[in-house]
Amino acid sequence: METLKNPPTEKKVFLETFGCQSNVLESDHVAGLLVRNHFTLTGKMEEADVILFNTCSIRQHAEDKVFSRLGQLVDWKRDKEGRVIGVLGCMATSYKDHLLERAPHLDMVVGPDQYLKVPQAIREASQSGQSQVLADFDPLYFPENDPRRLSQPHKAFIEIMKGCDKFCTFCVVPFTRGREVSRPAESIVAEAERLARSGVKEVMLLGQNVNSYGLSPGSKDKTLTFDQLLEEVGRVPGLERVRFMTSHPLDLSDELVETMARVPAVCESIHLPVQCGSDKVLKRMNRKYSVAHYLERVGKLRASIKDLFITTDLIVGFPGESDGDFRRTLDLLEEVRYDAVYSFKYSPRLGTPAARMLDPVPEEAKDARLAALNEKAWKHAAEKCEARLGRVEEVLVDGPADKTPGAFYGKSRQNRTVVFKGQGYRTGDRVRVRIESHKVANLYGTPVEPQGKGRGEK
Ligand code: 5AD
Ligand code: SF4
Repeated sequence: METLKNPPTEKKVFLETFGCQSNVLESDHVAGLLVRNHFTLTGKMEEADVILFNTCSIRQHAEDKVFSRLGQLVDWKRDKEGRVIGVLGCMATSYKDHLLERAPHLDMVVGPDQYLKVPQAIREASQSGQSQVLADFDPLYFPENDPRRLSQPHKAFIEIMKGCDKFCTFCVVPFTRGREVSRPAESIVAEAERLARSGVKEVMLLGQNVNSYGLSPGSKDKTLTFDQLLEEVGRVPGLERVRFMTSHPLDLSDELVETMARVPAVCESIHLPVQCGSDKVLKRMNRKYSVAHYLERVGKLRASIKDLFITTDLIVGFPGESDGDFRRTLDLLEEVRYDAVYSFKYSPRLGTPAARMLDPVPEEAKDARLAALNEKAWKHAAEKCEARLGRVEEVLVDGPADKTPGAFYGKSRQNRTVVFKGQGYRTGDRVRVRIESHKVANLYGTPVEPQGKGRGEK
């Protein structure tokens, strides 16, 4: 447990988060620890005494942003004694003490399994001026939410497993997050219950590969499989929506599909990264499935779950990807017609097998492929939105819409952003909205019940 015996401090901490949902969850967790240890959080970098970056290593671009931020802080650090700069997250485990060579003004490097030590590390760094590197893995450590310190009061991420044993050849995650470990089911369900009691309506179960929950060798708890866990969480009173990510196509079981179809709280939505539409490239990526297997799983999902929202991740320009391979990716898009696609240019990561592969794709070819892929993906997303016109979506309200005065926004069960006219709605209200138009991938509409009715009750 974190120490509470430390004296109060006047120090203000600015914490900036890069990267995926795991980092968002972990930043909330660190923020909670800091407040309990008498630090104050600030959203303004200029009034901070401590600046922490929670970082991502997935692509070079993500790391470049952090190195550039660190570079801008050399004078800031020098200007006042006792100031502290820290790097948390994946760059901490991928670089460890090498980060201090790149940024000698850095005071602390703390990996994802060592966050309980963050408050103490800040105190020591500010008092002694000594840099600290805390980057070991700890399979028993899982970050929990403090219900009082959620980024959004009605939604929360719950980490159910961490690390990854899949070793896709392009991916740095097995190195930055370590071996796959599942969190005991009772601890997950207890957290879900705690969150629901504090007013959370929607949870997202998080893991690099949630489908192998409970199956990995490092897991302490082998009593539940992922579909069984999903069902347990779906039964927690007060939770209206349960989502999960990320799913690996190889481990997506029939039982999971059936559970998604049967349990009312589980939303009609799945993120199922395919990465590429060519078997040859999938093999080089070590994805362990074929395009035919992927399409069979999508067919099973669509046959079982009405109105399923399917999203994916795709990489263009993996070493050795030919024009023909890329055309197969476009064919796959045409066949699946995703609701949304997250597309990336391949970025070599140090230490991964793909970084040593020959036959790199030239940058211009990567750009052209990315543009062609995005054009098709946006066309499909627009068609999917078009198909929702005239329908009624159940929207969980996130708050007032910034760009549209007199309007609110939230998410449909499928996870589309819906903007609707109205006043006086509260975050976490549930509103039924008739969809009248769409702009890019957002839906626009009007509530079907008169204002003040049908809000919040199940
Ligand atoms: N280059 C480009 N994209 C990558 N991803 C993971 N590693 C890389 C890389 N080296 C993408 C994958 C993954 C998503 C989270 O990021 O598509 O699913
Ligand atoms: Fe990375 Fe592959 Fe694991 Fe996903 S399944 S985290 S892409 S190694």
